[in-house]
Amino acid sequence: MISENSGIETRFALARTLAEEAGKVAFGYFEARETLLIETKRDPQDVVSIADREVENLLRARVAEANPDDGFLGEEYGLIDGTSGYTWVVDPIDGTSPFVNGMPNWCVSIAVLYDGNPVIGVIVSPCHNEVYAGALGKGATLNDKPLTLDPKRTIRNAVTGIGANNYVTPAFVGKMVESLLDAGGNFIRNGSGALMLAYVAAGRLVGYYEPYMHAWDCMAGFCLVREAGGWFHPFPVDGERLTKGAPVLAAAPGAVEDLRRIANL
Ligand code: IPD
Ligand code: CA
Ligand code: CA
Repeated sequence: MISENSGIETRFALARTLAEEAGKVAFGYFEARETLLIETKRDPQDVVSIADREVENLLRARVAEANPDDGFLGEEYGLIDGTSGYTWVVDPIDGTSPFVNGMPNWCVSIAVLYDGNPVIGVIVSPCHNEVYAGALGKGATLNDKPLTLDPKRTIRNAVTGIGANNYVTPAFVGKMVESLLDAGGNFIRNGSGALMLAYVAAGRLVGYYEPYMHAWDCMAGFCLVREAGGWFHPFPVDGERLTKGAPVLAAAPGAVEDLRRIANL
């Protein structure tokens, strides 16, 4: 019988290999981005191209080959339920807007959930040659260097990442920025929520808040942040809820209280 731990270990190795392979494929498209046909989804700011679809197809095929009983949720092609208890949650390219506009802030984000808990998180940032990897109880690393959050950092002495899309009103976004600034904080938005969550794990940002994101945007980052010693607000994962959006908040220990108050979570 395969134990839960060996199940995580083999999938962690696979997730790392796949993330790096997917990162190379995505980077090839990034370099040839002038030739890509850019389509829009919910609104003119919500873009997608063949690069997103090809990378997700590659990951789906490889996971199905290695672990046919695992579930798989990807942004472009949705959820396939599994029977093993493991579900892969993938954003083939997070930061598609920076990607198609020639900015380096995009990544491939791969999480594996076990009974809803993000037990594996791997994020690759090909333009920066960075690989973030973490697994339950094993810590988190950036290019194999262990990550540990500094409890002295707060929203007042460090920067908070924020994000927003058109699921939330301009007034709500204005209010959240105002509350953060009022509390003595400051913010950055680089166009990739998954990458900013990885930056929280790396101690570059002290927290990340976005009022409405999907599981594929945040699960890998959540695993990384927890393994680096931080906290994340629980994300609904039961059944179809996994495919819907919810507030996303993750933070280093010294920023949790302030950001929960600002986000009302
Ligand atoms: C988006 C990015 C962005 C965030 C949006 C996401 P995509 O993902 O993470 O930073 O603000 O909510 O939808 O479309 O680039 O995969
Ligand atoms: Ca995304
Ligand atoms: Ca995406």
